[in-house]
Amino acid sequence: MTKILIPFLIAICMAGKANGQFSRQAMDSINRLSFQDHALMMQQLGITQFRPGPSGDPSAPNAANTDESKATTYSMLPDPLVFDNGNKVQTKKDWEKRKSELMEHFDREVYGRFPKDIPGVTWKTISVKDTSFGSFPVRIRELSGVVDNSTFPELDVAIRLILGTPLQPSKPVPVIMEFGFDFPAAFMRRMQQDSKEPSWQEQLLAQGWGYAILVPVSFQADNGAGLRQGIIGLANKGQSRKFDDWGTLKAWAWGASRALDYFESDQAVDASRIGIAGLSRYGKAALVAMAYEPRLAIGFIGSSGAGGAKLLRRNLGEQVENLASPAEYHWFAGNFIRYAGPLTPNDLPVDAHQLIALCAPRPVFISCGAPGVEGRWIDQMGMFMAATHAGPVYQLLGKEGLGASVYPDEGVSLDRGEIAFRQHEGGHTLGPNWPWFIRYAARYFNR
Ligand code: GCU
Repeated sequence: MTKILIPFLIAICMAGKANGQFSRQAMDSINRLSFQDHALMMQQLGITQFRPGPSGDPSAPNAANTDESKATTYSMLPDPLVFDNGNKVQTKKDWEKRKSELMEHFDREVYGRFPKDIPGVTWKTISVKDTSFGSFPVRIRELSGVVDNSTFPELDVAIRLILGTPLQPSKPVPVIMEFGFDFPAAFMRRMQQDSKEPSWQEQLLAQGWGYAILVPVSFQADNGAGLRQGIIGLANKGQSRKFDDWGTLKAWAWGASRALDYFESDQAVDASRIGIAGLSRYGKAALVAMAYEPRLAIGFIGSSGAGGAKLLRRNLGEQVENLASPAEYHWFAGNFIRYAGPLTPNDLPVDAHQLIALCAPRPVFISCGAPGVEGRWIDQMGMFMAATHAGPVYQLLGKEGLGASVYPDEGVSLDRGEIAFRQHEGGHTLGPNWPWFIRYAARYFNR
């Protein structure tokens, strides 16, 4: 857990400092307000108690299970290719119907629904700079997606997006957009100097592609206290959420769709070749964005764990009870809390393999680190199992899926089909898998 959290927390703090946030006092108040909002949602759902999740600290008495022999799956997994009424999905047309059924379950019970009238976004260019990134000449645009707040002027919401494209490209370029942080330039330079490897941005520029950083917390805070603000608060005119209203992951995914709208208007970019990437909670967001936004061409889903690519019906690593706690419930619809009491993960109408299946037939690269370095909180095996169980949907659509049923050794890239899986040698990072993902994406983008 420590190994997982420290790099991510450093990044969050850096981003926080850049925005002047996260004093001790502010954190206390965020936690208190999140707790209150969580309690209110529980009260409205009629839940008086919920089961606590296990600890991510392996030395704690209630440590999460890390032993594969005890990782019982709760029951049979729901079949993506069987309708709720028991009929089989046999054709591509059937799949379209089944897909709506699955989306309805994910909307109502897991991630929440997009509101009907989300206010529109107008993209503004804040700055354009021709410079270089490492040895690559690049044009960097700072963009702001200003959300129309005429229905609730008390809240200002804007999406922060940075786009870097090769200088003078001969034709529109593919772009990989990462959910990430907007670090101060000096910090970025230091990171680049310290690193022996080229950054992910340089690796993309070396391909002749562009990179983008979408800053999720610019338009929806990463806590329950912020649910009456940001885009969720604006769409709700400052009121608290209803049971099936969207959670933060869905809001972040909405931001990715708006960034795509911008790319469609920028001549430097080929909007039919946009990929989405993210790590950890941003890996969850990247998978949700892939599932709900058909214009995204490829996904690079890093260490997304529970609430992302890991099967929820598995007693290993992080559990539904953790996700439903005041620290993380905001990522989901209020209804999701019910699965930590009185319901169980077994009662969920859907599981992670079906979320991956919603991306079909588009390619998805599922990435994780080595258990010895990253820990098992993210449940590498649970993500691999979900990937295998999504395969039949890809096959129905004429693709291969993962094309493997045996967990690969560290460093082996299973990337024959439209679902790829690779466990790299490092910890909680996308880092060592970037070259493998780019090689994989090039198969689709450089045709
Ligand atoms: C915690 C949380 C995970 C999440 C991770 C992160 O470990 O339990 O679900 O993915 O933080 O985003 O860093």
